Amino acid sequence: MNPVRIGLLGLGTVGRGTVTVLRRNQDDITRRAGRGIEIRMAAARNLAKAQNFASDIEIVADPFKVVDHPDIDIVVEVMGGIEPTRELILRALRSGKHVVTANKALLAEHGNEIFEVAQETGGMVAFEAAVAGGIPIIKTLREGLTANRIEWIAGIINGTSNFILSQMRSDGKTFDDVLRMAQDLGYAEADPTFDIEGVDAAHKLTIMAAIAFGMPMHFESVYTEGISQLTGKDIQYAEELGYRIKLLGITRRTSEGVELRVHPTLIPAKRLMANVEGVMNAVLVKADALGATLLCGPGAGSEPTASAVVADLVDVTRMHTADPEHRVPHLAFQPKYLCEVPILSMDQVRTAYYLRLSVYDRPGVLADITRILADLEVSIEAMLQKEPSASAQWVDIVMLTHMTVEKRINAAIVRMEALESISGKITRIRMESLDQD
Ligand code: NDP
Ligand code: HSE
Repeated sequence: MNPVRIGLLGLGTVGRGTVTVLRRNQDDITRRAGRGIEIRMAAARNLAKAQNFASDIEIVADPFKVVDHPDIDIVVEVMGGIEPTRELILRALRSGKHVVTANKALLAEHGNEIFEVAQETGGMVAFEAAVAGGIPIIKTLREGLTANRIEWIAGIINGTSNFILSQMRSDGKTFDDVLRMAQDLGYAEADPTFDIEGVDAAHKLTIMAAIAFGMPMHFESVYTEGISQLTGKDIQYAEELGYRIKLLGITRRTSEGVELRVHPTLIPAKRLMANVEGVMNAVLVKADALGATLLCGPGAGSEPTASAVVADLVDVTRMHTADPEHRVPHLAFQPKYLCEVPILSMDQVRTAYYLRLSVYDRPGVLADITRILADLEVSIEAMLQKEPSASAQWVDIVMLTHMTVEKRINAAIVRMEALESISGKITRIRMESLDQD
């Protein structure tokens, strides 16, 4: 059988990894796919650099030339960004081609439109590399867990921010230095604020929630808070209390609706997830029949991401002669059964909290604080008062609360910040026990 012909959009970190892995494992991949997979042409802006890397591949500067080329069967989009990428993918589908993409931003923001067009054209859009790099989480959610009702997912799904948090905790390196290292290693997005402000994790969470709960993508509804405001102090206090801080993406089905949130989170240090360090990602899925399952592996980088891209290429190669009605649906549920689910606002979310307050060290201050919390029915689980330095009268108090509704904590923070005995803003970090029930 003739090899399937690939048009590659982008020859950067992921594109090069894809070429390398396809070449290195060509024999095994052909035996698995049932036919060869051949890169017919590729697009990159810097032609000389791309040619230098892959002199045997026809390289063009205009990605539309790849998409429009009649010889191409599958377009692999590893260029990134929203436009012209959206237009390129829609054009590829409309001209009868299949698409493999690693572009979570595009799918989270325009996936509903892209899947609708794919449905019309009978095209496949495969996107394993878009969530958690090399970890096969899409296949797991979409195929491995089809027997289950998924209850919640909590994941470390941004390698760059996990790398930064790990390095800050273990080596005491500065935020900026570690971010630069992550960029040099090819982990960060073209715009690294996506990584550190939680946007990239929100993109990935949007995709996982759609697949888990059979609903359309709702990126605009994800509560998104990144790690840029975290201080070394909070990382250290959390440690003293037996916790680690991780940037988590959390989605949970409740009787009132679905939670969609990304934020720094204290998790007990004894949990496996707390010990996932560096660029590693981990996704914990709680499903009713299976129970809790943790998938862990490299979440970014050239070859780990290429592993997912090539797995998709093999899937598409195997499936592209199959009747579209009998393929695995893009979002796990048959398109006509996708349904809107209410999405909870952050005010409605129930969780526990870490609060750090800088207070004036005099009698009665603690009583004022605990009265406010008691009035709002927030109960305290643990408290830590740091020693004041010889010269300062302001001391740090750290409190861990039991589970409560976010609306109550917001009200308590407003009232506590209004006390004269409290200086500056109160730091609030959410906590999750990640109990498996
Ligand atoms: P890079 O910036 O390393 O590579 C992008 C490539 O696309 C480059 O070869 C660039 O060309 C080319 N390109 C960009 N715009 C155009 C254009 N308009 N015309 C032609 N070529 C273009 O990005 P990555 O490989 O890191 O990421 C690619 C995608 O994969 C993104 O969507 C990213 O979110 C996703 N991803 C990345 C991961 C990672 O670990 N890096 C992991 C998972 C997903 P040139 O080099 O000449 O400028
Ligand atoms: N910038 C992303 C990360 C790449 O750091 O996780 C993988 O999606």
